[in-house]
Amino acid sequence: MDHSPQVLLNVLVKQFYQIALREVPNDMGLSLIESPDDAEAVFMAPDVFHKCFGNIDFLGRSRLNTDGELWRHRRGLTHATLNDAGKPNFRQHIFNRYTARFDQISELTPNHIHRAADEAAMSVFLDAFGCQTDPAELVSFLEHIQPLIVELQTSSWFRLASQSTPDLQRRAEQAVRQFEDLLMSDPETAALLTRITERMEGGSRLDATEEVLMGAFAGIESTTSAIRWLFNRLGINDRVQERVVADLNKAVSERRYFDCFIKETLRYFPPIPFVARLATQDFELPSRSVKKGDRVVVSIIGLHMNETAWQDPFIFDSARPEFMGDEYNRKCFIPFLKGPRTCGGMRLAEIELAAALEALLKRFRVRNSDPKINIAYALVSRPAQSDPLIYSRI
Ligand code: HEM
Repeated sequence: MDHSPQVLLNVLVKQFYQIALREVPNDMGLSLIESPDDAEAVFMAPDVFHKCFGNIDFLGRSRLNTDGELWRHRRGLTHATLNDAGKPNFRQHIFNRYTARFDQISELTPNHIHRAADEAAMSVFLDAFGCQTDPAELVSFLEHIQPLIVELQTSSWFRLASQSTPDLQRRAEQAVRQFEDLLMSDPETAALLTRITERMEGGSRLDATEEVLMGAFAGIESTTSAIRWLFNRLGINDRVQERVVADLNKAVSERRYFDCFIKETLRYFPPIPFVARLATQDFELPSRSVKKGDRVVVSIIGLHMNETAWQDPFIFDSARPEFMGDEYNRKCFIPFLKGPRTCGGMRLAEIELAAALEALLKRFRVRNSDPKINIAYALVSRPAQSDPLIYSRI
């Protein structure tokens, strides 16, 4: 068997899916939480269940991977900006960003379309913070460090003899420095770093860079992963695609099927399929006890496939009645998590996914020539190959 880091991560995420789909028992040796009440209890007690990102922490500290007082302080640095970006009046701007990128595409390949969407997502992120850095350069940077992310993730989940921790740490620090150089090349972005540094109570510019880098990971990777899944699922069935297109003639608030399609895609393919937490004290969950020092893994995909919450959970249903009727179990649909550590960019992401899908469908149609699902996992899960997608202009 191929034991390359990427293959190991893909096997890991496949196992989470197989357990959720009841195809295999949970023999991963992990304390896996799939019960809605236990998951809720974990999310509502963030001061007990700390973030557990393993070696991803080598990329630095940010609101994504700190806890307690430090997290509350870090959250305050970006909270208002992300809230503003998630207001409906930003929607048209987001739509224009995607449309402009799609209009510049020279070749109609999946790589060109997906790259355009990645750059649009990066522009939206930068616009929210008032930065002028070239989005294409930052997207290239994230692509460039993707193999490092894969190694940081694998070394957190598996002990691979080939991976030396000091070497990974050194490469992660080098990546943060490269990112800092990129940010400093634009005066507006440099000013943003200074502003964040000043508010950081003894923090350095490097601390501010780490905050922005992890924010970019949190925001861009998950959004572009969701967009890839949306385009992928749209291509599976022409009738679904035409029904999604038909909803575009309605007002944004009236697009029930369009919104349902997005929700069902996030249910079936949550960009973050599971999250790990470390118990900092003994704790009683509704159905089990957790000891101080235990690592628990909440399976988001497990909750999204919960048989008591969903009719035919293992089927992808673009007109899922629970979503169409707005009667779904809120504990079992948590692509953005729940509780105090809910995704900081949730409102922005919801607007952005709809705007990106609309921008695509105003220009293109997509066909997926291979319905088989293969997932590639690093920080987020995304379709393993884009080759089966065939785009055409309308
Ligand atoms: C479809 C898109 C997105 C999905 C599915 C998603 C999902 C998530 C999830 C599950 C977490 C919790 C991770 C954990 O606890 O380990 C999270 C955290 C976070 N996300 Fe998102 N996210 C998305 C888009 C965004 C965007 C666009 C931004 C900002 C531009 C963003 C910013 C954040 C931040 C700052 C956190 C940390 C929140 C905190 O603990 O204070 N996300 N996201």
